[in-house]
Amino acid sequence: MEKLEQLYEGKAKKVFKTSDPNVYIVDYKDDATAGNGAKKGTIAGKGTINNRITNHLMQLLEKHGIPTHFVKELSVCETAVRVVKIVPLEVIVRNIAAGSLAARLGLPEGTKLNSTVLEYCYKDDALGDPMVNEYHIAAMGWATEAELKTIAEMSFKINKVLGDYLKDAGIELIDFKLEFGRDAKNKIILADEISPDTCRFWDIKTKEKLDKDRFRRDLGGVEDAYREVLKRLLGE
Ligand code: TMP
Repeated sequence: MEKLEQLYEGKAKKVFKTSDPNVYIVDYKDDATAGNGAKKGTIAGKGTINNRITNHLMQLLEKHGIPTHFVKELSVCETAVRVVKIVPLEVIVRNIAAGSLAARLGLPEGTKLNSTVLEYCYKDDALGDPMVNEYHIAAMGWATEAELKTIAEMSFKINKVLGDYLKDAGIELIDFKLEFGRDAKNKIILADEISPDTCRFWDIKTKEKLDKDRFRRDLGGVEDAYREVLKRLLGE
């Protein structure tokens, strides 16, 4: 499969057309941004690591009955994915208070939540991805009620499958962000990536951060943290 014209360049990935109208190729970059583009940098090896981790986790989810856009890993940083129309929402799942939730509610990071929290943000960089609820989503027509029900159910199942799997690798799944799309048959499937860029991963014992917060907060050891996750999940 060959890359044709570039369709899009995002903060962390480029997307290319292929000769198959139902398949795109995603090319992961080492570029990193935080704070909606306010902070910019590169993380050496990130593109490769996020590609490998995402594909590994997408295949795990497929095995557990979650439909995803994954088609085939083409190289260390390139993957063929099913074409979808992206639902313009960032779906955030939280098990432990951290990041913006900890700040918003004045909770110390690491506070256990009594139950899993699901949040939606409208995907719009110019607006800073504002948080929205089911009523905004219905009013704006971003997803139907049935689609949103599917998205919520899939998100909780993904949380269970990933949480159990990561625990065995000594990683606590604090929170993460998902994106969904509609395939050619209008079915909702999981898209985008699942990586240390889009999840908070803490070492179960030491609570050391093994994710992009090391970059966002200038904690150092960014590359090592990404490599550690790759090693624990894929043994590489
Ligand atoms: P937050 O605490 O900053 O709202 O982030 C929650 C989770 O979502 C965290 O695992 C990081 C991820 N995330 C993204 O992947 N992209 C984003 O644009 C944001 C704001 C968060």
